[in-house]
Amino acid sequence: MIYSPRILRNEINTPTVNSLYFKLDIPVEPGQFVMVWVPGKSEIPMSLSMIGEEKCLTVKKYGDTSNVLAATKPGERIFLRGPYGKGFTRVDGKILLVGGGSGMASLRPMFNENAHGLIAARSQDELLFKELFGSDKLTVATDDGTSGIKGNIVEGMKVLDLESFRMIYVCGPERMLKSIVDYVSDKKINMELSLERSMKCGIGLCDSCSVDGLQVCRDGPTFNLEEVKKMEEFGRTRLSESGKRVWFQ
Ligand code: FES
Repeated sequence: MIYSPRILRNEINTPTVNSLYFKLDIPVEPGQFVMVWVPGKSEIPMSLSMIGEEKCLTVKKYGDTSNVLAATKPGERIFLRGPYGKGFTRVDGKILLVGGGSGMASLRPMFNENAHGLIAARSQDELLFKELFGSDKLTVATDDGTSGIKGNIVEGMKVLDLESFRMIYVCGPERMLKSIVDYVSDKKINMELSLERSMKCGIGLCDSCSVDGLQVCRDGPTFNLEEVKKMEEFGRTRLSESGKRVWFQ
């Protein structure tokens, strides 16, 4: 079934990220995704950044389809199907939300009063949803040092007592996830990661999203740390939209 809600408002979050708010009364688990169709362009997988009756798609402008989607005006319709995939596991107690780039978008539904945030971006302008967290529950890392720790997300992790969190949830570009997995490999932590892969069908038919025989659209997009550690392709290769295997640089 394709839903076509009207946009209520379009908020600018950063120079490259907009959030589209709309009402749609369907159940969604944090971390699940929808396939968003942009007429005349293509269909792209996106996690929802709000999952109540009022929902939100947070759009990173990185190409034709996402640029058009991000420019949707209030009153205009968007088209989506889903939700699909496996969401994050909810736990009680202290949690850490780790978002790089626009990764905090799919983690926002996991936010609660026990959540600490670690947000990393190239520059302070690109820090997404940092206003969710009080200053005592937020760690920031920027590549250019304009806010927080100067360095990448692993440098941010180094100042945190990772083992004190009941669960660490991570979302961001795959190379960033790989650096995190390498860093925590000898630590006693619970972690779930949301993987991004090229997706065509979203429902387990086309195999464009496969990684080591698992389908990110159906077996994920959330995987626990032990599952990710066993993936030989993770952080090394992926399939392009045309189905060609490409290496991460
Ligand atoms: S997107 Fe088609 S199998 Fe996953």
